[in-house]
Parts: sequence; structure tokens; C-alpha cells
Amino acid sequence: MQDLASEKLTTEEGVRASPVKKPTATKFDFMVVSNRLPVDRISDDGDEKDGWRRSPGGLVTALAPMMTKSDGAWVGWHGAPDETVRPFSHEGMDLVPVQLSSHEVELYYEGFSNATIWPLYHDVIAPPEFHRTWWDSYRSVNKKFADAVIRHAADGATVWVQDYQLQLVPRLLREARPDLKIGFFNHIPFPPPEIFAQLPWRREIIDGLLGADLLGFQRPSDAGNFMRSARRFLGASVKQQQVHVKGPDGEVTHIARAQAFPISIDVDQIRELAANPDIMERAKQIRRDLGDPKTILLGVDRLDYTKGIGHRLKAFEELLREGSIKVEDATLIQVASPSRERVEQYRLLREEIEGTVGHINGTYDTIQNTAVRYLHHSYPVEEMVALYLAADVMLVTALRDGMNLVAKEYVTARSDDDGALVLSEFAGAADQLKQAFLINPHDIDGLKSAILRAVNLPPKEARRRMKLMRKQILDHDVDYWSAAFLAALEEKVVRDDS
Ligand code: G6P
Repeated sequence: MQDLASEKLTTEEGVRASPVKKPTATKFDFMVVSNRLPVDRISDDGDEKDGWRRSPGGLVTALAPMMTKSDGAWVGWHGAPDETVRPFSHEGMDLVPVQLSSHEVELYYEGFSNATIWPLYHDVIAPPEFHRTWWDSYRSVNKKFADAVIRHAADGATVWVQDYQLQLVPRLLREARPDLKIGFFNHIPFPPPEIFAQLPWRREIIDGLLGADLLGFQRPSDAGNFMRSARRFLGASVKQQQVHVKGPDGEVTHIARAQAFPISIDVDQIRELAANPDIMERAKQIRRDLGDPKTILLGVDRLDYTKGIGHRLKAFEELLREGSIKVEDATLIQVASPSRERVEQYRLLREEIEGTVGHINGTYDTIQNTAVRYLHHSYPVEEMVALYLAADVMLVTALRDGMNLVAKEYVTARSDDDGALVLSEFAGAADQLKQAFLINPHDIDGLKSAILRAVNLPPKEARRRMKLMRKQILDHDVDYWSAAFLAALEEKVVRDDS
């Protein structure tokens, strides 16, 4: 069998001779494709184990067993522009890196993915930009990802494409390899057709997605939005959850189904960490370090304009101003992990949030007490769980969010069934966590009163709510999600002509 790692590489700059295990096969029966590979570089010289660490997050945890057990491989970008990394294997997972030039990173990733699609799909909270050069790059990079799959997929393989960066891949795969079973999962919202209509390439995107046999969305409303756009912009006939996809001659070529599969988290990992004595002690230490306040409130987000961090700070400041919350009694810890820092809107947001935090702390801090402890860092999962255990009230105030896994992690970590969750109705998690204090983050008065109710929640009522939310998540972890999607993908489809 030909060895993947010995393939001739076309790009010469920075070819990296990985000191890692070579992949085991050249053709795979199960392939996952995502913009990023599920590993992060930890050293440049390869002296720390093999130089890579598995990325945190539920998606990798859910799919890793399938990668290692079956003949599976993961296709994705390795995160270093202009660098060629050969296929390799890490912790039993075969990884096929896609190379991106810095120009492609700028146009395809920072541009079309994160300054066109991302804001467009999140209710145009920031104005999307439409540039033809970005679109051209998105198309050619999607082709690169599809080509990597086409080269390595075994006959009849199952391919699962992930997220908004790769919406053209399903169609490219179907055209080149009609033998494949193709799934797509959109981790972010899908907008209503009235907003999607703005996209100059709306027909191409819908057509790209309709290459899949099964399209998974976070919420039923996202699947509904997609089907309405398929009907409106491509004239597709939609029956129940089926889209009958027509070829150029008007004949139905295949059926694409669109359904909701709400993603979840690695419940076992979070529960184990929450029961670990060192982490429990760390949670107590965090509380002591803050001067033992009566109440710790917590926000944990990527520093992204969709997360409603400004709305949260505004509500908190007003509560301090009115004296309903006192700086001696309560601290808000806001973890804002750095994200997409070369994209203009993200730079502006950082300035705005840091200005607001400085203003609040300058006004309300005392020598001993801090109103907002702002942390512009990423933390390992162990520290995150310690923060969840330390926090009496978790604030998730997203203006729009596909799911929001932080809300699910907080609830899972609260094994004593205490604590309270304030959750935006605009986050997908609101469909599952119905006993949270559900809020509209634009309604600052409503948000303030929900925060106060959460801060003053009687323990019995807190337990009632938390128990129900924990049961929901414990019964629906990320393995449940991936198994449900893959089972639906394998189902034989009966055409609905009713
Ligand atoms: C969201 C998207 C993911 C993305 C992640 C981090 O969760 O759905 O596809 O990977 O944000 O963003 P980044 O641009 O750093 O990959």
C-alpha cells in the first residue's frame, strides 16, 4: 500500500518533515472535514512528544473514537499559513493537512468566512462585507478541501463536512464522487431568507450545501430557514424535511434532508473534572482570591460581537449604579478569549469592551473590591471547570449563537445542583435548557431583573431548576449527537411526494 506521507508535495516553502507517526492507510471509509484540524501545535522543534496536542472541545472527543477504530481520517487546515505539513497520525487519528497561503487565510478565512458569512448568519449584528475577491478565494479553498477528500476517500465512504467555512464542499464531492455518502453540519445559525437574500452568491451557497444527503442544524428554526431559502432562491421543491434536488434537465437527482441535531459536550470529562479534589480546591482558592464575595457572576466567551458582552456589562453597571448589587458583595469574572484578532470588527470590539470594563472598574472599585475581573486569555479546561464551580451565577447573553456550549458545561459541572444560569433565548442552548432564566439581551431591564432573580435565588428553587437542566444534558451528550447524526445519514430515504 502506498504510504500517504511519501506523497509528493507541490508547495516547497516550509515543508515540515513531521517527526510523527505516518498514517496507516491511503484510503479511508470515514472522513471528517473541517476548517481546522483537531490538533494544535505545541512546539516548533518537535521535541515535545510529537509537537501536537489534541484540541479541546466536544467535537474531537465525539469523533476521535471513530477515527481510531474505523479506517477514519480528518481533513483540515493545520493553522500555520504558508507552511506545508505532511499527512500524519496523532493519538491514533489519521490527519490530512490542507495547506493555506497567507493570502488565502486573509481572503477565505478572515474575509469571506469571518467577515461575510459569520456576520450575515448572526443576524447582521456587524455589517457583512461582500467582496468578489473573497468569494473567489472561498471557492478555490473549498475546492482544495474537497480535492483532499476525493484523493483519500475509499469507494462508498462516509464524509462528514463541518461548518460554514466549507459550504461548497458537499456539491464538489457529489460531482466528483457520486459513490460517497455526504453529511454536513452547520455549527452556527442559518439566517432567515430575508437576511440570506443579501448574499450575492446565495444560489451558489445553497447549491453547494444541497450536494449533501443530510444537512444538520442546531435548531429546527435553522433547518426551516435553510429550506425556505432553498425554495426561494433555487426553486427547490421542499417536502417535510426533504429537499428534492434537481439537475440541469429538471429531473430530481437526489434528496437532501435538513434536520436539527443540537450539539452537546463531553459530559464525562466535565463531570470528572468537577469531582476532582484539586479542581474543587482551586475553585475555593478563586473565591478567596476575590476576597470571598457573597456572589460570583461569570461570563466565558470568545471575544466576539455575537456574544453580547457589552449588553451584559451595561446591565451589571446599572445594577451597581442603582445599588441593587454592591461591589463589596459581588464580582463579575469575564473571561474573553482572544479570537480572530486580524479582523477589523474584532479589533473594534476589543477596544470597546476594554474601555467599558475600565470605566466600570474606575467608577465602582474600592481598594479591596473589583467590580469586573476581566481576563483576555484562553484557559485550559481544568481552570474553566474551577471557574464554573466558583460561580454562583453564569451569564450567557449572546445576541445570536448557534448553540453555546459554555452554558451546557456550566450546568454539567454543578453536580451539587446549585448555581443559576441566565441564558439568552437567542442561543441554541435555550431550546434544551428551559429552566434557565431565559432573557432577551436587548431588553436591559429584563436582563437586570433576571440577574437579580438569579443572584437572590432560594436554594430549593435553584436545585429544582438545575436538576432538570442537568438531566437534559446528561442524557444528551456529544456522543448522542454524533450517533444521532450518523444514524440518520445511513438511513434509507423514502421519497416524500405528499
Ligand atoms: C465557532 C465556529 C467554529 C470555529 C470556532 C473558533 O465555534 O463554529 O467553526 O472553529 O468558532 O473560531 P476560529 O475562527 O478560531 O476557528
